Amino acid sequence: MTTSDAAATPAGSPAEPSSTAAKPAARDPWDLPDVSGLVIGVLGGTGDQGRGLAYRFARAGHKVIIGSRAAERAQAAADELGLGVEGAANADCARRSDVVIVAVPWEGHAKTLQALRAELAGKLVIDCVNPLGFDKKGAYALKPEEGSAAEQAAALLPESRVTAAFHHLSAVLLQDPAIAEIDTDVMVLGERRADTDLVQALTARIPGMRGVFAGRLRNAHQVESLVANLISVNRRYKAHAGLRVTDV
Ligand SMILES: NC(=O)c1ccc[n+]([C@@H]2O[C@H](COP(=O)([O-])OP(=O)(O)OC[C@H]3O[C@@H](n4cnc5c(N)ncnc54)[C@H](OP(=O)(O)O)[C@@H]3O)[C@@H](O)[C@H]2O)c1
Repeated sequence: MTTSDAAATPAGSPAEPSSTAAKPAARDPWDLPDVSGLVIGVLGGTGDQGRGLAYRFARAGHKVIIGSRAAERAQAAADELGLGVEGAANADCARRSDVVIVAVPWEGHAKTLQALRAELAGKLVIDCVNPLGFDKKGAYALKPEEGSAAEQAAALLPESRVTAAFHHLSAVLLQDPAIAEIDTDVMVLGERRADTDLVQALTARIPGMRGVFAGRLRNAHQVESLVANLISVNRRYKAHAGLRVTDV
């Protein structure tokens, strides 16, 4: 249903309450929590996407820990970034962080999370993994058995607070220190409002970015898949395309 469909609902229909009883005031959806003190870990933080996010959050003043399958690779990437970024093995990174971003390739997603179930228990997990295939026609969306990478994460991490975000960002822009603002919205998905509010607030720590709630994890597949379209855009127009959601 579009916004105009909703507006066109006839008076007295089931969608419109007939009672005149006072309802509590709607919460301001942009009233977001203070997340400035949160420690952010990045699994697979030695790669382009993880390194880019680590750089942006460290630049925004967060304590950031880069994770890797090898602690020394994480340390080398952290030393390159500076800004107080630390490096650690993925398990240590998960244990020491409040919020953990999953930035490993789809191929290693399930195995990585299975191994970190205990370390990630109780943590806010942000999955940004896009299950994509590539052939001579370009990128295309894969169809994970669980529905999406985010749903696979939620299934593997029942004691974590799994959300999904940061799928559409360009790692090139994130890593470029000459770029002060990243002009894009970030679609944020999750099951609990407190968690998606936190992720939206974290997104807003990066100048130019805005986090927009985009539904529950069952709708993550479309968001992950859209990256195949953005890759096509980037190839045709030699761009690093982002997204904006209008009228919110
Ligand atoms: N690149 C982008 O622009 C972009 C944008 C949005 C979302 N993403 C998503 O972010 C994720 C990471 O992208 P990326 O381009 O940074 O990928 P990447 O460079 O290929 O991989 C990231 C890191 O993951 C680790 N890794 C590699 N294979 C692994 C495996 N089988 N199991 C566990 N860890 C493995 C490696 O770190 P160690 O060897 O140090 O462990 C690697 O440096 C992907 O799922 C992608 O869909 C990427």
